[in-house]
Amino acid sequence: MILKKLMRSVREYKKYAILTPIFIVGEVAMEVSMPLITVKLVQHIREAVATSGSMKYVFIYGFLLLLMALTSLAFGAIAGTTCAKASSGFAKNLRRDIYCSVQDFSFSNIDKFSTTSLVTRLTTDVTNVEQSFMMIIRTAIRSPLMLIFSVVAAFSLHPKLPFIFVVIIPVLAFGFFMIFKKVRPLFTSVFKRYDKLNNSIQENIKGARVVKAYVREEHEMKKFDDAAEGVRSDFTHAEKIIALSSPMMNVAIYCAMIAIAFFGAKAIIACGGDTSHYGGINVEALSSLLMYSMQVLMSLMMLNMIMVTITLSAASARRIVEVLDENSDIVSPENALTTVADGSIQFENVSFKYNKHAEKFALSDINLKIESGQTVGVLGGTGSSKTTLVNLICRLYDVTEGRLKVGGKDVREYDLVTLRDAISVVLQKNVLFSGTIKENLRWGDPNATDEEIVTACKLAQADEFIQGFPDGYDTFIEQGGSNVSGGQKQRLCIARALLKKPKVLILDDSTSAVDTKTDALIRAGLKKFIPQTTKIIIAQRVASVQDADLIIMMENGKIEAMGNHEQLMEQGGSYREIYEMQNRVSEGGAN
Ligand SMILES: Nc1ncnc2c1ncn2[C@@H]1O[C@H](COP(=O)(O)OP(=O)(O)O)[C@@H](O)[C@H]1O
Ligand SMILES: [Mg+2]
Repeated sequence: MILKKLMRSVREYKKYAILTPIFIVGEVAMEVSMPLITVKLVQHIREAVATSGSMKYVFIYGFLLLLMALTSLAFGAIAGTTCAKASSGFAKNLRRDIYCSVQDFSFSNIDKFSTTSLVTRLTTDVTNVEQSFMMIIRTAIRSPLMLIFSVVAAFSLHPKLPFIFVVIIPVLAFGFFMIFKKVRPLFTSVFKRYDKLNNSIQENIKGARVVKAYVREEHEMKKFDDAAEGVRSDFTHAEKIIALSSPMMNVAIYCAMIAIAFFGAKAIIACGGDTSHYGGINVEALSSLLMYSMQVLMSLMMLNMIMVTITLSAASARRIVEVLDENSDIVSPENALTTVADGSIQFENVSFKYNKHAEKFALSDINLKIESGQTVGVLGGTGSSKTTLVNLICRLYDVTEGRLKVGGKDVREYDLVTLRDAISVVLQKNVLFSGTIKENLRWGDPNATDEEIVTACKLAQADEFIQGFPDGYDTFIEQGGSNVSGGQKQRLCIARALLKKPKVLILDDSTSAVDTKTDALIRAGLKKFIPQTTKIIIAQRVASVQDADLIIMMENGKIEAMGNHEQLMEQGGSYREIYEMQNRVSEGGAN
């Protein structure tokens, strides 16, 4: 099952994957017949020396031997190339398939795996599988083939002596089996630890500034050490067990060789080197027999290595297939609606949990009606589910209970692209991508003209500072937007969202790093220039939402109070408290 799913990614590299073992068969055939030819060659040398006769056969066999060695070398080289082509092509396709699958993931799919685990799967796990794919097409055919050829050839030299192998190989196989049974669970656990390790690395590098600001380096170092130590100890434990297989094999094979040498010598003495007797053997045949013993040893060693790689990559393969098998739980329905009528939004008894098994509802009993074009403010402490509330509107998550309508229709009836085109969200965690400012803004609308871009930036109060950069709109944004300030980044993200010309614009705490005056200018601009668009503004400052048509107070995943500024002031409650507190602070600041 797992294998079949993975093999789907071989695709156009299939011909290389098939050619490789064919060349390998050729290589092995040459390699194993060489000792047989050597026996003949030595015989002819001896005859030639004894009779001082012609060297004709010596040359023929010598030449044949050389030819065979060269052919074997050539086959080996070709197989190496095709194998590299097949395995690296397979890895490329596999990464692409995983990536495609991840692109379709909804937020809850990503939550389930965690970002770092997905990265490990795309990198380390694919590399493991690639390695074992390479092993399989090269060695998995080569070693058993060599084993069988060698044993058969050995029997052609003597009818009884090679029986020693027949006894020893099954004993060894059983030993290997026991070792791998022990090692398998260790490898599975190693990858969980890898995820932890990568998590620690990612968190640290992303949050490097915070780590430094809070002088948490030591604590973070310890966390990293623990994770790295976990990986080490699991690997050491596994390797310790695997290491047993090598001495086990060596002992067995050398015992076999000694036995062959001993009984072989006895047989030579018994028949006086006359090979025409049954069970007769001469010195050349015996030395070739010992050469075959070496080949048996080598092929067993390779088989052992293959098994280690396969065990290791089986854990990786399972992790990859998990991602390939995961279906996005948020998809467009059949006969989806492709137009959003207007920017009205309605929550009907909506409840929501992030996880099926979670006890706590992140949102419960939300009833809310927003007319198209209204400005809605959302206030509430951190963790009061403000972000969760707006994430439902563009279907980043689906409601658990109840219904959510945009433009009068359930969001689940829309084509996802249509819905998300109609709704622009400036997420709390803003992200800019590396590229120029213009390129970043065109995410909002790939066909936006330069004038449109400038208009959007003027609305978002971003035009001024952009003009101030030496390169203006062609200024290069570093990865993650690290070369612009927080407030500038927020304004760029707002401009990008405006370029989508959305029916609903959601600003999730998007002006937190912008000064009060600029914040007010942005709001005034939105009101004036996009009156048709429904605006949802999540904010910390009452001033940011004070003049909204509707203000929602969130607490603990519930709507605590709702109304415009005057109504809420009249009701008293937490809105008035916050209002008075914040105004007192700002008055104090003015003095
Ligand atoms: N992806 C997530 N998975 C599980 N729980 C989450 C997730 N995002 C937020 N939560 C939880 O949901 C609650 C509300 O979070 P959020 O909507 O981000 O609050 P706010 O935006 O008001 O600060 C919090 O208790 C938070 O821990
Ligand atoms: Mg939030």
